[in-house]
Amino acid sequence: MGIQQSLFSAVQDAFAENTRISNQRLYHTVASSLGIRESEASRKENIGKKGEKCNVFTRKVRWQQQTLKQLGLIERVASRKGVWQLTKEGKKKIQLHKTQPGITVLGFSTRLGLAIWGDCCDVFSKIDEPVHLMISSPPYLLRNKRAYGNPDETEYVDFICKSIEPVVKHLVDGGSIALNISNDIFLKKSPARSLYRERLVLALYDRFGLFKMDELIWQNKSKPPAPIQWASINRYHLNVQWEPVYWFCNNPNKARSNNQRVLREHTDQHKKLMKAGGYKYRKTCSDGAYSKREGSFGKETKGKIQRNVLDIPHVCKSQQDYKKAAKEIGLPAHGAPFPLNLARFLVEFMSEKDDLVIDPFSGSFTTGLACEQLGRRWIGTDCMYEYIRGSAERFNGCDDYMLSKEMENVSWM
Ligand SMILES: C[S@@+](CC[C@H](N)C(=O)[O-])C[C@H]1O[C@@H](n2cnc3c(N)ncnc32)[C@H](O)[C@@H]1O
Repeated sequence: MGIQQSLFSAVQDAFAENTRISNQRLYHTVASSLGIRESEASRKENIGKKGEKCNVFTRKVRWQQQTLKQLGLIERVASRKGVWQLTKEGKKKIQLHKTQPGITVLGFSTRLGLAIWGDCCDVFSKIDEPVHLMISSPPYLLRNKRAYGNPDETEYVDFICKSIEPVVKHLVDGGSIALNISNDIFLKKSPARSLYRERLVLALYDRFGLFKMDELIWQNKSKPPAPIQWASINRYHLNVQWEPVYWFCNNPNKARSNNQRVLREHTDQHKKLMKAGGYKYRKTCSDGAYSKREGSFGKETKGKIQRNVLDIPHVCKSQQDYKKAAKEIGLPAHGAPFPLNLARFLVEFMSEKDDLVIDPFSGSFTTGLACEQLGRRWIGTDCMYEYIRGSAERFNGCDDYMLSKEMENVSWM
């Protein structure tokens, strides 16, 4: 796919997801979905005869926006400067299709998993299976709602609790829940961050007895510059580079997690130290807070225990292939997936082979794919037809893959 074509698709997908979107948000969404680095998204070059400094990336995005306008698919919002929305024609052609309340449809299946088009509460309140792990990235709390529906701050904690309650009820003893949510939610017209994360953590303990095991840091070095208002315009903040992945467990002393499943390779220095039988003499460190004994670190171990900062690039070959495949069958690709390596890490660390892993907000079914590769059973739901159908392409080739007839024969009024 050419660069212009993928930029055009990313702009179109941003409108499919958001229906109405400001230019700033459009730049952010497009850069994020294409994995464009901060330096590139904000680079200015001398352009034209006068040689004026201009942001090359935002200029290219606006060019694609004009193409959509000429096709009659988007229009300016009269009362709001720099905000665009889908026209009636645009809504017909590029909007996402949400499932009807109460209706659930099998999307596709494999030997290990099921992808269901439906509201997660409807689906999981009917499924009666022991669940070992839930991994999900729910719709973020956003100031500008996306087409797939983002709850606002007053509704958010209730929305998450209500959505995951049917899954929590079936969590086995020691089962875990991992939630990737955003840290970058600000109070209205303020550079202060919302405390909704803290409220959510307390609510999950108070309502469901879920203990907080950790707040893993997913370090994403390719995040586009943000928060624009508070870092690039008002200069109060630093640019963001991480997102939290909250990890909860219903019985911490029986957690199914095991760091030996996700060991990292020892450094050469550590390998040398082990070979030499560890430290040769006693050493006191940090003003006596701890000490290294003679022989410390001399025992050979299989690998290094992973630290709780996960340095995982957002740019991901599996996501790029999925986006390309979705485009090839004429569907918008999901604009906010997490990378396959993040899902793989969480699945491997927090569950055992053959366990059942659930993702109620599956999007492009990255969790399902990680399970497929790691031999876990999985069930995923998403309420948008386009995401389920597009994701099916990622599973074509898995054992017993089958696309349901309903997915093949769908038509819109
Ligand atoms: C942030 S995305 C998940 C992205 C996913 N982790 C991936 O890697 O592609 C959240 C998804 O939740 C879906 N969604 C929102 N509300 C839902 C509901 N009530 N039931 C099922 N899916 C829902 C949206 O359509 C969207 O695809």
